[in-house]
Amino acid sequence: LKKIAVLTSGGDSQGMNSAIRAVVRTGLANGYEMLGVKRGFKGLMDNDFIPLGSKEVSDILYRGGTFLQSARSEKFKTKEGQKKAIANLAERGIDYLVVIGGDGSYKGAEVLHQQGIKTYGLPGTIDNDIPLTDYTIGFDTTLNVVTNAISNLRDTMSSHERVSVIEAMGRSCGDIALQAGISSGVDAILVPEVEADIEGIAAKLRAGFDRGKTHSIVIVAEGAGKADEVAKKIKELTNLDTKPTVLGHIQRGGTPTAFDRIFTSRMGHKVIDLIKQDISGVALGMEKNEITYHTFEEIFAAKNTIDSQLYQIFHDLI
Ligand code: F6P
Repeated sequence: LKKIAVLTSGGDSQGMNSAIRAVVRTGLANGYEMLGVKRGFKGLMDNDFIPLGSKEVSDILYRGGTFLQSARSEKFKTKEGQKKAIANLAERGIDYLVVIGGDGSYKGAEVLHQQGIKTYGLPGTIDNDIPLTDYTIGFDTTLNVVTNAISNLRDTMSSHERVSVIEAMGRSCGDIALQAGISSGVDAILVPEVEADIEGIAAKLRAGFDRGKTHSIVIVAEGAGKADEVAKKIKELTNLDTKPTVLGHIQRGGTPTAFDRIFTSRMGHKVIDLIKQDISGVALGMEKNEITYHTFEEIFAAKNTIDSQLYQIFHDLI
């Protein structure tokens, strides 16, 4: 029996469990022996593997987080750490390794691939910052979490005639802020990809209140600034009561949306297809509703940019 191991690495995201389940169940159905690695690359170095049968992945489809746990490992960046991981994989006779994680995890998968391990990447991050895929795992769920949080904030901001400045996650990517901005009809967004005109934003907010608006919402992507600093600045410029809220890790939790469950099920299924064809050193994603794949090198060479059409739509609708 050929063996496939699967791990989750880096910041967790909703839908990782669903992805593990799809990889494991499709692998089993195709006659592979399936193993899980605990705590990402750390578990690979620590030889922390568990056998995965169909039952081991039942009851996880709808759970946020990752039952394999996740970690960010500095040690794995060293040659010594990688050697240990490779020795453990060889000792167990593992033929293929599926890595569910973001950019950093893809670097790890590529490093192993260069050293002869057949690796595969699934884009597990809420940030939507991986090139050559329209979505990453958990992004849609996070958008829904942020949209609901903004809805709650709007209620109280409106009662008190306040401005809410909400800090969203995303590292150096503004997609969460932009798309939650569209889904929530907020007044302004600050994203790292575009230089902010804080004076212009403040003037618009002031004018809105002068026209009788009872609240305003501004989303700041964490890569573009800090909620408390932006709130302070807006208050200075407008004299409006402005409250910062950092949504933080609440954005990474919750039951995955139907979209994330189906997206991950499709990718889990497809990765086994690629393994059967002996194609390796690739990461999967979705482009125009098709599950596609590219080599890690192609992904590292591509640039992740803001969707200029969506950015325009946001501005046309406010
Ligand atoms: O990459 C996912 C992410 O949630 C980012 O949006 C955020 O900057 C970071 O991880 C937070 O990392 P940690 O969970 O280690 O605090």
